[in-house]
Amino acid sequence: MSITLLNLYPTPADLQRLVLDGMRRSPRQLPAWMLYDAEGSRLFEEICRQPEYTLTRREITLLEQNAAAIAAATGPGLVVEFGIGSARKVDALLRALGSSVFAALDISVSALEDALSGLANQHPSIAMMGICCDHTQLEQLPQHPALDGQPCIGFFPGSSLGNFTPQEAVQFLANARKLLRGGPLLLGLDQPRDPAQLKAAYDDAAGVSAAFARNLLTRLNRDLDGDANPEHFRYRASWQVHEQRIEMALVSTRDQTVRLAGDAWFFRDGEAWITEYSVKYSPTSAAELAQRAGWRIQQRWHDDEDHLSMHLLQPAD
Ligand code: AVJ
Repeated sequence: MSITLLNLYPTPADLQRLVLDGMRRSPRQLPAWMLYDAEGSRLFEEICRQPEYTLTRREITLLEQNAAAIAAATGPGLVVEFGIGSARKVDALLRALGSSVFAALDISVSALEDALSGLANQHPSIAMMGICCDHTQLEQLPQHPALDGQPCIGFFPGSSLGNFTPQEAVQFLANARKLLRGGPLLLGLDQPRDPAQLKAAYDDAAGVSAAFARNLLTRLNRDLDGDANPEHFRYRASWQVHEQRIEMALVSTRDQTVRLAGDAWFFRDGEAWITEYSVKYSPTSAAELAQRAGWRIQQRWHDDEDHLSMHLLQPAD
C-alpha cells in the first residue's frame, strides 16, 4: 500500500488575500472551496445523504453501471481526479481500467490524506498520489516517476464544475486540457430540471444545506480572526432561470458590521452574501462550454430519468 503526498499550495496568506478580494465584490462572494474545512466537508457528506439531494447517489449508480463502457471508451491511463471527492465515485472506474496509479488534486492536505488512505485500503495495489494544489491553476503535474509516461484520464464528477461561473468553467476546462497532456476528461454534470425539486435539493428539510453555508462564517472566524455571527444571517437557495443556476446565499437579517481579516465589513439588512452557485448544464450547453475550452464531447452517459450526465471530452484538435 503506498500513498505519496506532493504539497504545492496553499499558504495562509493566500486565504487572507482571497477573502479580501471576495469581500470587496458586490455582491460579496468567496471561492467555493472555502466551504470545505473539516466541518464543511463533513456537512457536505451529510448533504449527500439527504433524501432531496440525489446527485451523488445517482452519479455513483451511473458510474457503477457504465464503468466498463467508459473504460472501453477512454482506454487505459492514469486517472487524475480534480478534487478528492468521494472514493465511491472513482472506485468503479479504477476497477474497470485496472489502474496501477491514481492521482488526486485537492486544496486540502488532510482531505487527501483521509480519502487516499481509505481508497488505498480498498485498492492496496494502486499507488495513490495526492497533489495538494488549487486545481483551477495547475497547468502541469509535478515531476514524479509515478506520474510520467502514461496518458492521463481526467475525472471531474459531482457537477463540481457548476460552482464556477461559465467563464471560470471555460478557464478551468482549458487549463485541465493542458494538465491532461492530450488525454480525455470525464465530466459529471447535473442538468436543469423542475425548479422546485432543485430548490429542495439545496435547501433540505433537515437544514443541512443551511448549516453547510453557515459553517463558512465559523470557518472564517477561526482562520481569519473574525466575529461574524452565523445566527445573524438566514440561508437562501434560489433558482435563477436566466443563468440556469441555483444561487446559495447568506442573507443578513439586520444592519450589521462583521470584522474579518483585520477589516470591518458593513452588511445592510437583507443584503446577500453569496456562498456558492450551482450551475446546471443541459447536454447542449455542456457541448457549447466544452467547445469554448478546446474540447469536444465524444460520448454521454445519463441516468434513467436523465437528471445528470457523465460526458467524455476529447481535445478538439
Ligand atoms: C459539490 C458543487 C457539486 O453544487 O451540488 C450541494 C455543492 N452545496 N449543496 C452542488 C453543494 C450545497 C455541490 N457541488
